[in-house]
Amino acid sequence: MQLGLGGVGRALVRQILQTREHHARTRNVRWEYVALADRDGLVFEPQGLSDDALARLVEAKDRGGKLQTLEGGRPWSGDPALLEGIDAAFGVVVDVTASAETVPLLLRAVERGWGVVLANKLPLAGPLNVFRTLTQSPRTRFETTVAAALPVISTLRTFLLDTGDRVQRIRGCVSGTLNLVCQRLEQGERLSRIVREARAHGHTEPDPREDLAGRDAARKALILARLLGQPLELEDVAVEGLYPAEWDALGVEEFLERLPELDARYLELAEEARSRGRTLRYVIEVEAEAAEGRCRARLESLAPEDELLRPGVADSVVAFYTERYASGPLIVRGKGSGPELTASGVLADLLLLGQG
Ligand SMILES: NC(=O)c1ccc[n+]([C@@H]2O[C@H](COP(=O)([O-])OP(=O)(O)OC[C@H]3O[C@@H](n4cnc5c(N)ncnc54)[C@H](OP(=O)(O)O)[C@@H]3O)[C@@H](O)[C@H]2O)c1
Repeated sequence: MQLGLGGVGRALVRQILQTREHHARTRNVRWEYVALADRDGLVFEPQGLSDDALARLVEAKDRGGKLQTLEGGRPWSGDPALLEGIDAAFGVVVDVTASAETVPLLLRAVERGWGVVLANKLPLAGPLNVFRTLTQSPRTRFETTVAAALPVISTLRTFLLDTGDRVQRIRGCVSGTLNLVCQRLEQGERLSRIVREARAHGHTEPDPREDLAGRDAARKALILARLLGQPLELEDVAVEGLYPAEWDALGVEEFLERLPELDARYLELAEEARSRGRTLRYVIEVEAEAAEGRCRARLESLAPEDELLRPGVADSVVAFYTERYASGPLIVRGKGSGPELTASGVLADLLLLGQG
């Protein structure tokens, strides 16, 4: 079953339909949708939804439809009891929402031995016990929660930790929006203008503070820190936002009106970085063994030789400093956002789950 039919969810259904034949031939796998849910509606078909029905539902969601009013739809509020009505030899819940309300259903799925695939990072960046329950199951995969389809999580879990390497530090630039802000600051543009334009082009959340506060980057840092075994909660991450914390109390419009007050400071920061041959980036950092400040997210001025900048500007980059990679970090780099890429990462997780 799939929770969420937004940009990523719709791209995923389409990719599954497009690749069905190929997976049947090459992997002997066929994914059937028994349920699709959005915020308040559900389409449930225990025998499996037909490809035509799936395509029609996705098209209707493209046009802004609500599942509960569409063919076969009904109101639904996320009750995990739904799972009891599904008799699947190998069930999987795919969470491509941006909501923490899916947690009870995900926990029930794990309890039943189902697979869980998450692009939604909120369940893994909420209470530590939920993170542990979800990730201790070998049937939970969450590659796209950090840097979309870039293999950051599998590199850390499988190639480094599971093979006995010792990870000392992880650093990364994992916010496409904050990378864009930093690059345009470097070009001498004003913060307020950059934010207004990025928002108008859909490059920020409707409330740009979601990005500018560094919260999204901090959640990714938290997931990586927890995978290193650190028992942290989100409050333990030292997050430095790009605006004063008091501005969280403002309405969105008022916030945007006050942003020009910060322009001079950021022009100065960018100019200072430039004059020293350095580059501004919003960086997450996780130290494996430091007692304090071991997980943080903040704006930094990077030296030209910094690994996070080479060989050029990319959406996302994560560097793993480990015992085995002593001569230089293992770097995962590339475009780390976008619904199509994210959906492809979710599909890859599904295929890996199907492999057992
Ligand atoms: N887009 C990217 O580049 C990217 C990259 C990496 C990870 N992700 C993550 O992928 C997830 C999905 O992103 P998106 O861009 O597709 O988001 P989105 O367009 O906002 O779509 C979210 C979907 O989830 C549904 N939803 C919300 N609460 C729900 C609930 N409690 N139960 C069931 N469905 C619920 C929404 O329903 P309605 O349709 O009724 O509103 C909507 O269909 C997010 O967690 C995001 O952080 C995205």
